[in-house]
Amino acid sequence: MIKSITIDKEKCIHCGICIKDCIVGVLEFDANKNPQYCPKGEDNCVACQHCMAICPTGALSFGDKNPDDSIDVGYSDDEELLQLIKSRRSIRHYKNEDVPKDKLEKIVKMLVYPPTGGNRDNLHYSIVKTKEKMDEIRKLTYDKILSAQNPNPHFETAKQAYLNGNDIIYRGATSMVAVAIDKSKTIAGCETADPIIGLSYLDLYAQSLGLGTVWCDFALTIARQIPEVYSMLEIPENYTLDYILMLGVPNIKYKRTTQPERFSIKLLK
Ligand SMILES: Cc1cc2nc3c(=O)[nH]c(=O)nc-3n(C[C@H](O)[C@H](O)[C@H](O)COP(=O)(O)O)c2cc1C
Repeated sequence: MIKSITIDKEKCIHCGICIKDCIVGVLEFDANKNPQYCPKGEDNCVACQHCMAICPTGALSFGDKNPDDSIDVGYSDDEELLQLIKSRRSIRHYKNEDVPKDKLEKIVKMLVYPPTGGNRDNLHYSIVKTKEKMDEIRKLTYDKILSAQNPNPHFETAKQAYLNGNDIIYRGATSMVAVAIDKSKTIAGCETADPIIGLSYLDLYAQSLGLGTVWCDFALTIARQIPEVYSMLEIPENYTLDYILMLGVPNIKYKRTTQPERFSIKLLK
């Protein structure tokens, strides 16, 4: 990301809101009351682009980003969003077909939006997009599990289910999203949150596209235990696998929402 700001002096109304909203305080007015970086401001700028997003007149461009290329901020109806949250289910029955390409493309474009601590570019997503590749991963996994000399409890459970015709590792999904993190690029303390936030956004967005997902601890465990499976995910060097979400076209449709009862919630004064 190029760190620089350009002010359209015709448009700037010198309101200073960009300076006020800068989370790291690296902007100031110049002698003509136009915003500029403080000395060495670029070094501490986290490139969050809030300065461009908040400018009421579109006078501030950030790096090569033109404010006219942003969309106006708007929120979807709260009831609709809540309906989506309530309607999301873990899907364990998928159609034996690829996830449509246009839907995957929409997901890929969405993935730049989930926040990360310090606005770091620290995540990698490996997305298995074809049923063919998913079947290769599945075959390799079960070959390894069936031929294991001393199967651990995970292998044993998966093996028994497989012999009964159930793929309890990947749940018959035709796609898979693995998120990985480069901890050297991550703000200390945000290692747990960053990848899960990304995958959570993806989870909900996928449901809005009519796709099914299931968070998959089992698939994660397997990828960590079978190096050949891990390498099929093509996770770049320096990144560590963090979590896995299965994805596909649902082969079932839930009629109504569940009525969960859980969590301890206390509204404090
Ligand atoms: C972190 C996490 C790990 C999960 N791992 C698995 C898994 O390995 N296999 C599976 O079938 N479901 C898995 N699930 C799905 C849960 O079982 C499911 O979310 C829960 O039963 C509630 O159902 P719902 O998601 O339809 O509301 C996981 C869910 C979460 C949040």
